[in-house]
Amino acid sequence: MHTQAEHAIAADMTNIWPADPALITRAAERLAAGGLVGVPTETVYGLAADASNGEAVAKIYETKGRPRFNPLIVHVADANMAARIGEIGQDAARLIERYWPGPLTIVLPALETAPISDLAMAGLPTVALRSPAHPVARALLTEFGKPFVAPSANRSGRISPTTADHVAEEFGDLIPVLDGGPCEVGVESTIIGLAADLPALLRPGSIDPMELSKVLGIELIGPGAGIVAPGMMTSHYAPDAAVRLEAEEARGNEVLLGFGGTPGATLDLSPSGDLREAAAHLFSYLRQLDRTGKPIAVAKIPDKGLGLAINDRLRRAAAPRD
Ligand code: TXA
Ligand code: MG
Repeated sequence: MHTQAEHAIAADMTNIWPADPALITRAAERLAAGGLVGVPTETVYGLAADASNGEAVAKIYETKGRPRFNPLIVHVADANMAARIGEIGQDAARLIERYWPGPLTIVLPALETAPISDLAMAGLPTVALRSPAHPVARALLTEFGKPFVAPSANRSGRISPTTADHVAEEFGDLIPVLDGGPCEVGVESTIIGLAADLPALLRPGSIDPMELSKVLGIELIGPGAGIVAPGMMTSHYAPDAAVRLEAEEARGNEVLLGFGGTPGATLDLSPSGDLREAAAHLFSYLRQLDRTGKPIAVAKIPDKGLGLAINDRLRRAAAPRD
């Protein structure tokens, strides 16, 4: 976060807008005019566009440099707005009641009449819906009065942004970004698919899948088994540097990203071994280490709870590049 004086300078120089009511209104007007706005959510910063405006959605792909059209998540103010877009059955209603607003995205059959551009849905008969909890995202939804799509506000395949400065680093002064402080969760929302016969976990996030199973009263199936979240490319969230996982120490000129007090760590995701803190630091620490220009070694992160989401992102960061 910046002080107010710093903000005034930042707003001129990098298009970082303090999230005050006047600028939230300006951001909503920009969306209505088919423009893009960076918006904070509790997970990561999003690059928002009017979900009903195909040209605005096309600008997202162009700005991110996305190599192909993946379906985007449609952000809504509440269950009422969602009910005009997707078929909300009993399972969805239960999850919405329990988790919205919050970091849970639900994939549902889309209504014929959904006011969403085909490009945002990549031509699929299903739609991904989420109601963010971050007060600035909520204020923007209220002010705009319509759903917006918002993929993470980074160039395609790169590390997701968790501060307004990160967004400015990605797009310079091309895109204004509302500053809502550092993201609390730090990894993208959990995605659950309810459009097929069985509920499936399509992307791990901060919500424990076991707890989701309990709420639904049925075990979730994994994303394998022919069910694909089209955006889940293998190499993703990639820093420029090479990334090596489950490292016990730095080798050669590597910098070391530790966890739980790893000896010799350049940065430690959570010295006390708290997965929630680690998730919140993940993308910003990867960015910092990437700036050293050295290869990055990452300590082993426990593969349970939020560690599942952290390891999912780390594996993609370490995957061979195209
Ligand atoms: O935390 C988040 O969800 C962030 C913040 C900004 O809200 N947003 C985000 O949006 O990650 P996006 O658009 O990048 O997420 C797209 C993911 C992709 O993995 C895509 O495959 C999946 O959502 N998705 C979207 N529509 C889908 C559909 N109809 N069926 C299956 N997966 C879908
Ligand atoms: Mg992304």
